[in-house]
Amino acid sequence: MKIYFAPLEGVTTYIFRNAYNEIYGNVDKYFAPFISPAENCPMTPREKKDILPENNKGLTLIPQILTCRSDHFIEAAKELHQMGYREINLNLGCPSGTVCAKGKGSGFLKDTSALQKFLDDIYTYSESEDMKISIKTRLGYQEPEEFYDLLEIFNAFPVSELIVHPRIRTDFYKGEPRRDFFTYALGHAKCPLVYNGNIFTTNDYDELSGAFNTRLDPIMAGRGLVSDPSLGSKLKGLTSETDFEKLRRLHDTLYQEYQKVMSPDINVLYKMRELWTYWQVLFEGNERDIKRLLKAKKYPEYEEIANRILMLAED
Ligand SMILES: Cc1cc2nc3c(=O)[nH]c(=O)nc-3n(C[C@H](O)[C@H](O)[C@H](O)COP(=O)(O)O)c2cc1C
Repeated sequence: MKIYFAPLEGVTTYIFRNAYNEIYGNVDKYFAPFISPAENCPMTPREKKDILPENNKGLTLIPQILTCRSDHFIEAAKELHQMGYREINLNLGCPSGTVCAKGKGSGFLKDTSALQKFLDDIYTYSESEDMKISIKTRLGYQEPEEFYDLLEIFNAFPVSELIVHPRIRTDFYKGEPRRDFFTYALGHAKCPLVYNGNIFTTNDYDELSGAFNTRLDPIMAGRGLVSDPSLGSKLKGLTSETDFEKLRRLHDTLYQEYQKVMSPDINVLYKMRELWTYWQVLFEGNERDIKRLLKAKKYPEYEEIANRILMLAED
């Protein structure tokens, strides 16, 4: 079974990916959070640093582009090609207000004729350059029924993989994914399909497989893999337990690595606190400590609480 790590902007940074890959592995592709090309600027230095091959050694990374301009996409794709990448992912899912207002991400889904023209341009480029382009999409902008037309459009192009997050823009990341529409995709997509959304446990996966009457493979998971970093090994049947010794190593590595590249201290703590908003589900009974940890403003206070929580779980 293949597992793809979903891009989570601000969370699955190159520092996170390297630490995760070394400690846990069992992820077949990591999708990088989007780069957003602008006129004469295919990517910012910060975006470039995140995807530079030397910062992503030993893992399969798929860079992602967010744009509604085919010329911007192609400029960024050329730079990625020079860096050695042969697969790029197009973001048609981002629900953020500022992104959608510019007609990008899931905001691009409502202008199907512009989308068609855009896909025409970028696939003409990719075919000439031996590049694969996969697509990560929602079902639609306003209505899930938009997906019927969208799938017909995608079916006309050599999409290397179609990753479907079966929600519409206004769902953001809440509520149940709209499974019926993924069932429709299973019956009608002409390219390889990847399911994404709300896989937090092996039970969730088993339940989905029952609902779709097929063992989904590959699958993409984001929040589930961050919340329980052992989820990949669990889904692959390699373990049934969360490994807290590994979680301690992941925590310590991230804490050290972020201190090397971030300042002032509070910024490192913001990063760590954001990770704990995911990890807290693993520490039932520690709610009071976690609440304090999520407000910690100084390293000693943070370390004292984090160590206590992690040590208790390791015993
Ligand atoms: C904080 C955050 C940042 C995200 N950043 C991106 C991104 O850069 N590109 C993208 O395609 N999706 C992004 N997503 C969406 C996730 O990749 C994924 O589709 C979504 O979380 C649903 O999958 P999950 O339930 O397995 O987490 C983001 C989601 C969250 C919560």
